Amino acid sequence: MKKVDNDKAFFGQPRGLSILFSTVMWERFSYYGMRAILLFYMYYAVEQGGLGMSQTLAASIMSIYGALVYISTILGGWLADRVWGARKTTFIGGLLIMLGHICLSLPFGKPALYLSIVFIVLGSGLLNPSASSMVGDLYDKNDNRRDAGFSLFVFGINVGAVLAPVLVPWASTGFGLHLFGNQMNFHAGFSLAAIGMFIGLIHYSFAGHQYLGDESLKPNDPLNEAEKKQAVVRFVVGIIALIIVMVIMQLTHTLNIENVINVITVVAIIMPIVYFVMMLTSDKVTKVEKSRVWAYIPLFIAAAIFWGIEESGSTILALFAANQTRLSIAGFPLQAANFQLLNPLFIMLLTPVFVALWSKWKNQPTSPSKFAWALVFAGLSYAWMAIPVQLFGISAKVSPWWLVGSWFLVEIGEMLNSPIGLSVTTKLAPAAFKSQMMSLWYMADSVGQAVTAQTVKLYKPTTEVNYFLAVGVVSILFGVILFFLSKRIHGLMQGIN
Ligand code: GLN
Ligand code: ALA
Repeated sequence: MKKVDNDKAFFGQPRGLSILFSTVMWERFSYYGMRAILLFYMYYAVEQGGLGMSQTLAASIMSIYGALVYISTILGGWLADRVWGARKTTFIGGLLIMLGHICLSLPFGKPALYLSIVFIVLGSGLLNPSASSMVGDLYDKNDNRRDAGFSLFVFGINVGAVLAPVLVPWASTGFGLHLFGNQMNFHAGFSLAAIGMFIGLIHYSFAGHQYLGDESLKPNDPLNEAEKKQAVVRFVVGIIALIIVMVIMQLTHTLNIENVINVITVVAIIMPIVYFVMMLTSDKVTKVEKSRVWAYIPLFIAAAIFWGIEESGSTILALFAANQTRLSIAGFPLQAANFQLLNPLFIMLLTPVFVALWSKWKNQPTSPSKFAWALVFAGLSYAWMAIPVQLFGISAKVSPWWLVGSWFLVEIGEMLNSPIGLSVTTKLAPAAFKSQMMSLWYMADSVGQAVTAQTVKLYKPTTEVNYFLAVGVVSILFGVILFFLSKRIHGLMQGIN
């Protein structure tokens, strides 16, 4: 491992960071590029190059897909820790993701879509936790460049996420060259996503073995023989159980995409409950640690509400962009998919502001209070969207600045939730459940999206104002409750801030 303090080849950071930066940058490029056009691919009519689903079903699939992408980090973390090591797990993840995008780049309709979802859910679950744990491995315990290293890594995520919603939709129109007439060719866009992941993988495999440590080649807690057998048995039992459920659904004529979404929603909500019960009843967790886990429960609920709103940017707000927004800004023509760049763009702009704020602010609010504010901002971003609909009606096309304003508000919230959440999660984690606690953090995002997969069914032109207001008010209300509870929660955190 090149854990040498004088390795400062990448903005003062170890050279290995540049490889992981590039890997996640290309991975997030492919993921967010694909998601920017996927919603439209699903609901555009077949004659327009789409799959002809309803807008509601398309939005619901987007949300449940997003939920699965974060649930699968549990599997990825386990494979990296116990079977393959982080390096190989990342590579296999990238390969699966590329295969997923290739599926979509071929004209095979819904079967290709569902197969692609399986590949990408598994692939992202493998790649994301392993790549971030390798960032941690680049530094010795006492290397104070670690936090800055993680910030740079997150910046890489957002570079990928900001470029993709411009380039991938543009590829779908034949780069403005009218290659596909006036039609969209979504497969061309998905091909670009596949190419992005391919570039990332090539760089990762050639430069990775030079600059990433050898210890990432081995699992840090390998399975022993008995555990291996047990894992195989569990895997086989799981697959059989899945097949039985599907056969029963088929025989009772209930095997359809809507019911699959319902089942996944229930699973996504039950999983974190199981995790919490497991930690709170485990002998490996001390009394102080249990108190911290209790403190984490309200923070988890707050994070779920926050991510439910944040992630609905690629569903609800994307529909709003397509149906109710004038698609030009300062004379520039826009595609509805382009609005997806606002989220990472605001993250990039706001991060330095918040870094400066936290370093200067002496008596800054505690983590629970920051989370409370995040909910208030997320709620405002929704309530804000009720204004243009109320003012101009549901059939008007309103200025794109309304959406810009909404994303600005929710991204202020993200600054108060995401980095704070990551750090507080690691600090509140019981020693025996370190990586599981990280999975739990991503599960908050899953719960948020799984619930959105259901609530989005209530989002219709006639209910739009009420939808924005209701979700906005719920979020603000939880924010206020959390604010009042923040002292008690802080007490339960036992010395953690
Ligand atoms: N948007 C971030 C990413 O794509 C983080 C999502 C999250 O923390 N739930 O990695
Ligand atoms: N908001 C998304 C993430 O933080 C893009 O990276």
